[in-house]
Amino acid sequence: MRFSQLTSALVVAAVGSSAVNGLNILISNDDGFGTANIREMYKAVKAYGHTVWIVASVTNQSGAGGTAIYTTERNLTIDSEFGIVKKGQPSVGADPNDSHIWYYNGTPSACVQVALDYVLPRYANFSTPDLVLSGPNYGLNLGPFLYTLAGTLGAAYTAVERSIPAIAFSGGTSVQTAYYHVNTTTSAGLKDTATIYGELAANLAQQLITNVAKKGGGRLLPPGYGINVNMPFITSFTNDSCINPPFIHTRLTGGADVDEAVYNSTTGLFTWGNVVPEGANTCINGDCSLPGETDILNAGCQSSVSVFTVDYDAPLACHASPDLRGDLAPLVQYANSTIKVGGLDGTSSVTNGTAVITAATPTSTLFPVGNVGAGSFRVSRVASGLGMVLVVVADLWL
Ligand SMILES: *[C@@H]1O[C@H](CO)[C@@H](O)[C@H](O)[C@H]1NC(C)=O
Ligand SMILES: *[C@@H]1O[C@H](CO)[C@@H](O)[C@H](O)[C@H]1NC(C)=O
Ligand SMILES: *[C@@H]1O[C@H](CO)[C@@H](O)[C@H](O)[C@H]1NC(C)=O
Ligand SMILES: *[C@@H]1O[C@H](CO)[C@@H](O)[C@H](O)[C@H]1NC(C)=O
Ligand SMILES: *[C@@H]1O[C@H](CO)[C@@H](O)[C@H](O)[C@H]1NC(C)=O
Ligand SMILES: *[C@@H]1O[C@H](CO)[C@@H](O)[C@H](O)[C@H]1NC(C)=O
Ligand SMILES: *[C@@H]1O[C@H](CO)[C@@H](O)[C@H](O)[C@H]1NC(C)=O
Ligand SMILES: *[C@@H]1O[C@H](CO)[C@@H](O)[C@H](O)[C@H]1NC(C)=O
Ligand SMILES: *[C@@H]1O[C@H](CO)[C@@H](O)[C@H](O)[C@H]1NC(C)=O
Repeated sequence: MRFSQLTSALVVAAVGSSAVNGLNILISNDDGFGTANIREMYKAVKAYGHTVWIVASVTNQSGAGGTAIYTTERNLTIDSEFGIVKKGQPSVGADPNDSHIWYYNGTPSACVQVALDYVLPRYANFSTPDLVLSGPNYGLNLGPFLYTLAGTLGAAYTAVERSIPAIAFSGGTSVQTAYYHVNTTTSAGLKDTATIYGELAANLAQQLITNVAKKGGGRLLPPGYGINVNMPFITSFTNDSCINPPFIHTRLTGGADVDEAVYNSTTGLFTWGNVVPEGANTCINGDCSLPGETDILNAGCQSSVSVFTVDYDAPLACHASPDLRGDLAPLVQYANSTIKVGGLDGTSSVTNGTAVITAATPTSTLFPVGNVGAGSFRVSRVASGLGMVLVVVADLWL
């Protein structure tokens, strides 16, 4: 009963939103072009009326993160996953059953780049997608550690870095299946988990598309922005206790685990364990009032939606507390410094606002000041003008 209500809600949503269609969407993942989740998301996004292409890895590339590895073999040296494409076929090509579905023998990041720079410009009727969707991954990708470890995220932030809005999707149901093993109904009479993940992902993307269109259209996300979505374990195989999770706005940090090395003295080998350290969970940038995505997934049948940017540099704390800028001075200087001390002059220090330079040769990329002699000296005054710098050496320091 509950499920048939959900089904009609999804159909109504699809019909109701069909006015906002016709976007160009690229889909990738890290589990490979033949897995059920990516194909079900492809179908659900296409059902909204968009032009959709898949370019994804020919094999399982789980854990590749954002690394871009391109094959050095012109042809496949082994069969693709699930034997969809046989060895000896070109390393980049279309699925035999759908000319909009392409595989490439590379990492997820490489696949996105091959899509943007080769497949779409040559074979599609657009070159730059309006949106890139990655996943839905088999297994959750929660927290800053997975942000860089996961190929699903790697494909998404590669697209963001190439100026294309992107959303990464991951699901807690982690057994990879082939696209042709999607059941129309499970033994509990519900939809396949892959179908539910695909529809949830498509609905979230369509919500963004619809709302941006209502505001007059334009980019779906500002440059440098992406979204990371985690969906919980779907129970549709056995019951309907978690088949329609709500989406909750979250942030990456908060309750997130990272790896630790666990030594096995019998085998002499290491494996990984989970720890939840402060380093991966300190809120430094952004809205610290949002719950951590890990905490939201741990709390039950709900999905997390974290907005991220690929600009993770220059936290404001550098100028406040802790004063990291001060802790690096004077060896690290502002670009507008009137005198630049060479980076090998490692024992420079500031005493009461006075730069003390202990090396023989202060160097400058902007103003070459020349060799002012061996030994240490105190700079009592620095003036610049007419392209030269006057360094007044008041007294020897050593
Ligand atoms: C894909 O790779 C991941 C990481 O190596 C592994 O955990 C998973 O079992 C693989 N999936 C399949 C279907 O081989
Ligand atoms: C790659 O496969 C094509 C046929 O699909 C074949 O003509 C070509 O010789 C192969 N190239 C290499 C380097 O194996
Ligand atoms: C893919 O195409 C082949 C040959 O065209 C066909 O035998 C096969 O059933 C198709 N598979 C699916 C899942 O559509
Ligand atoms: C691009 O191709 C799709 C089908 O693949 C078609 O629906 C769409 O209208 C085409 N768009 C343009 C601008 O030709
Ligand atoms: C599809 O149903 C069959 C038979 O119930 C089952 O063995 C298989 O695991 C199901 N596949 C998925 C992806 O749930
Ligand atoms: C529903 O299915 C899940 C996953 O199989 C199981 O853990 C849970 O106990 C089931 N709940 C009920 C009420 O049967
Ligand atoms: C260490 O490895 C052995 C051999 O694989 C295994 O039987 C044992 O359970 C492992 N110990 C731990 C603590 O994981
Ligand atoms: C030099 O640059 C720093 C960092 O951008 C800035 O805080 C400071 O105000 C600048 N000083 C002058 C004199 O422009
Ligand atoms: C710093 O320099 C000023 C001006 O020369 C002087 O008045 C002050 O006492 C100095 N402070 C310290 C801590 O040396």
